[in-house]
Formats: sequence, C-alpha cells, structure tokens
Amino acid sequence: MEATWRDDGTPISSERLTDEGVLNEQLALEPSAYQPKMDELKDERGYIEQDQVELRPDTPNLDAICAKFDDEHLHDEDEVRFVLEGEGIFDIRSKDDKWMRVKVEAGDLIVVPKERYHRFELTDAKTIRCVRLFQDTSGWVPKYR
Ligand SMILES: [Fe+2]
Repeated sequence: MEATWRDDGTPISSERLTDEGVLNEQLALEPSAYQPKMDELKDERGYIEQDQVELRPDTPNLDAICAKFDDEHLHDEDEVRFVLEGEGIFDIRSKDDKWMRVKVEAGDLIVVPKERYHRFELTDAKTIRCVRLFQDTSGWVPKYR
C-alpha cells in the first residue's frame, strides 16, 4: 500500500492513515492467513456478509461499472476491501477534506469509513480481485458529492 497527499505528493504513513480513520493492514493471501482477520472485523464492526468481486479487462460493461465509482461519493456503510490480485487507486478525503491517494495491491486490507467521501479507479492493468465485507448491499449505494 502506497499513500500520498495529492496536493504535494508527500508520503502518508500507515499510522496517519489509521488516525484519519482508514484501517490499513497487510495480510498474506492464503485464506488460512486472512480469514481470521475477516472474522475479527465481522465481530468487531458488525459486518455480516463476505463475498469476492473481480474486475478484468474483459469484464462486460467494465467502463460503465468503473464510472459508478470514479466520481467523489460516500456510502452509509464502510467500504471494506482485501485485495487478492491486481491493484487499484482510492482517493480518500482526510478529516479536514484534503485528498489522500492510496494505491492498493495484493495483500492490502483497507477500510474506507462510512460517510467519508472517496473515489476509486483501476490502474492501466484494469484488474482487481477483492474480498468484500458488508452488512447489506443497500449500503453500497453511492451518494455523490
Ligand atoms: Fe465507494
């Protein structure tokens, strides 16, 4: 995971991201390694469901799918992603409304807190596969800024 302030490109530490309310961790990719952490998050934060999502260059309607997430928006629920494969870029507002850019790749766990403006885009590889945790898919409805 690589995090920088978008205005001047300076790095953001893992601790600072945590202080900004963005849970971030690295986990091994074997289910035996990451599932205990997923179960812990479900217990601590009330997530109920777990699934996987995958986007690839040949995913039907890929551009339309990506267009839902690449404008600034927020959700009623946390956005929990553990990246199994590929990569992506989250831009997340800090508590004082500055842009933080977080590039995630395989092994990265990130939680964008609910009610926090953010956006997401794929990299040129246009590939990502993630575990998602959530309470109810209705919580994913993006509310645009
Ligand atoms: Fe989102």
